[in-house]
Amino acid sequence: MPQFNDAELTSAVISSFDETPNPRAKFLLQELVKSLHDYVRRTDLTFEEWEYAIDFLTRTGQKCTPIRQEFILLSDVLGVSMLVDAVNHRDRDGATETTVLGPFYVGEHKVMAHGADISADLPGERMFVQSRVTDLNGKPLAGVPVDVWHADDEGFYDSQRESYVTRGPSSRARFVTDTDGRFFFRTILPCSYPIPTDGPVGEMIVQTRRHAMRPAHVHFLVAAPGFEPLITHVFMGGDKYLDSDVVFGVKDELISKIEKHGDAVMPDGKPAGGPWHLMTYAFRMKSGSGSAPQPMMAKVAEQA
Ligand code: BEZ
Ligand code: FE
Repeated sequence: MPQFNDAELTSAVISSFDETPNPRAKFLLQELVKSLHDYVRRTDLTFEEWEYAIDFLTRTGQKCTPIRQEFILLSDVLGVSMLVDAVNHRDRDGATETTVLGPFYVGEHKVMAHGADISADLPGERMFVQSRVTDLNGKPLAGVPVDVWHADDEGFYDSQRESYVTRGPSSRARFVTDTDGRFFFRTILPCSYPIPTDGPVGEMIVQTRRHAMRPAHVHFLVAAPGFEPLITHVFMGGDKYLDSDVVFGVKDELISKIEKHGDAVMPDGKPAGGPWHLMTYAFRMKSGSGSAPQPMMAKVAEQA
């Protein structure tokens, strides 16, 4: 019967994975054991603290549903999502910067016609979004699906509302770029919002005296064949939380100056019906490969 001191214990657990057939899985597991054991040793972790951690992770799992992902939220607020993003996008070569996917890429992203109003009848200040997708040389990319989603003017995503089941998606759609790589749509001006604070992750944010806010933004996921999938946001310039995003997701290049307009027509020549804002942003795609994530409910339906 082997007896281990704590250093020998770490070596024994590491070697217990020696026969793992997949070399990458073996490496990841052995490194995880090293880091975890090191954490326990450095902190002199008590039984109560370990129990608390297990309970916290258990509650995090229990909070997940087909349209709520508390683990993504945990990864986001601990900066792990942005770190994974950083190590995988070290050299952008002039391509548009990336940021977190976040936990609200859910449900159906229905293809809509250019110019459509994706916020349907939601109240809020009106915004026209115009965009273009090109490669790094500025060549337009046609027929590219672009998923967009954002919060409403009270800071909630459609999937956070009880009415989601009956009303379906809003402020969420898919556009397909035209022959010139362009797409455009109408919506409302999103506002800054708190991440959900009714679960263990939000509880941690409140108890540690962090604020829970994200600066206002629109999410974009651009998936062009032959190019790396682009997961990003465009942030509204001037937002007061740009310097303290709770998920560390802001990059200067992703901040857009949103212009206020009073013209009677929007850029597509259709009536504006009142004052409106204009967001103009171009996406530059880096050639490569990779599969874009699926929206959360689509993944669940596939597994069923
Ligand atoms: C979001 O932008 O939708 C988001 C990202 C990370 C955590 C919570 C929300
Ligand atoms: Fe968001």
